[in-house]
Amino acid sequence: MHKFKRAFLAAAAAVSLVATTGVTSVVQAGEWPTEKECKAGAAKDGDNIIKGWCVAVNRRGGNCLACHQAMVNPWPEGFPTGGNIAPPLVAMAARYPNRDDLRAHIWDPTEKNPMTSMPPFGKHKLISEEDIDLLVDWLLSI
Ligand code: HEC
Repeated sequence: MHKFKRAFLAAAAAVSLVATTGVTSVVQAGEWPTEKECKAGAAKDGDNIIKGWCVAVNRRGGNCLACHQAMVNPWPEGFPTGGNIAPPLVAMAARYPNRDDLRAHIWDPTEKNPMTSMPPFGKHKLISEEDIDLLVDWLLSI
């Protein structure tokens, strides 16, 4: 789809959400499952964004929140907040206009920063290529 059209559709969706719920985020408010709910299959019928979130919160998967906070709203009730040894995952679409750059950072962050404590998830096959794509879908939504 043409970029402009996509932006327009996203804006239209946001406007209709605001109109119906008063919420300004395009993300489905209140639908972020906890790790436990993810394991119980919360993402099974969900879209890629929810699936990507489930990869991020899985301590045996991405475990991204061990180090990062993530700007999802509202935060799932009773769910531990993210770590603060890494920059917060926020405004990703604005900061990564090129999807491949974001994917590359998750695949192997040592390319950009050899001293980073972030594991090279793709290079060391810590998570699957499919899960990395789902993570990128989720990240670009927050
Ligand atoms: C062990 C800690 C740790 C884990 C786990 C971790 N990160 Fe990171 N991450 C870091 C640190 C430290 C940085 C800052 C240095 C750098 O850029 O690599 C970083 C940087 C980043 C960046 C680039 C900085 C930015 O805000 O643009 C992204 C994107 C990112 N991480 C995503 C993820 C995702 C997605 C996961 C889960 C799959 C993850 N990280 C897991 C420590 C971690």
